[in-house]
Amino acid sequence: MSKIVIAGNWKMKKGLEDIRAFCKAIVSSLMARDMAGVMPILAPSYPFLDLMQGELKGSPVKIAAQDVSSHPAGAFTGEVSAAMLSSLGLEYSIVGHSERRAHHDESNELVREKLLMLMDNGIKPILCIGETLLQRDGGSTKEVILEQLDGCLRNVNIYNAENIMIAYEPVWAIGTGRTATGEQAQEVHRIIRSWLNNTYNQAIADEIVILYGGSVKPENLAGLLAMPDIDGGLIGGASLQADKYLKMIDIALESRK
Ligand code: PGA
Repeated sequence: MSKIVIAGNWKMKKGLEDIRAFCKAIVSSLMARDMAGVMPILAPSYPFLDLMQGELKGSPVKIAAQDVSSHPAGAFTGEVSAAMLSSLGLEYSIVGHSERRAHHDESNELVREKLLMLMDNGIKPILCIGETLLQRDGGSTKEVILEQLDGCLRNVNIYNAENIMIAYEPVWAIGTGRTATGEQAQEVHRIIRSWLNNTYNQAIADEIVILYGGSVKPENLAGLLAMPDIDGGLIGGASLQADKYLKMIDIALESRK
């Protein structure tokens, strides 16, 4: 059974002092817990990746990037390559977040290029997919999810389920306070697993960690984790406060008992 992943996506919301204080607030309590069943991940902005690895050294927290360049190197002002992330010893990076797709015009094809760049550099992508409200209301959720999976993972070899995670994040639930119900999320997670089974094989489909994201908080996490195909959360707002983040880790630990 894979670990439950409690991943915090901090977006562009935390600066240096805030990050230092957060790390200080969680490090000793995490080290005092038996974390065998839960994997905490935190994704700060680029400038703080290295700092956070230092601050949380020896703790079970994995640090992730929020994005990556699709180019290997060169004259791309403002971009950060997968090789650079890898040189920091990072193991994970979010890719294809709906905010990147919406504000930076990222297509499935571009997300695929970024994802391959990460994999080529030994970094595990946390691939985000999800439908908009218009698409859900128009009844095309399944079609959109399948199109994103087909586009982002076209001819992508996955030999080991541990090399990638998928995050189902309905766009209408992100930052809105409007969470998908456990049943709504479960329905899409099932669709994702069956696509993985058809595209790869049963073992890959069973073992790939599929996170739910969109207004996850301590109050709704247990209900989501009770669903058979939800393996954790990709959490924005509620991951910004140390006490709430720790609370969600405890809920995840409890759900593994
Ligand atoms: P939220 O964000 O938890 O604030 O809705 C989730 C995300 O964007 O990954």
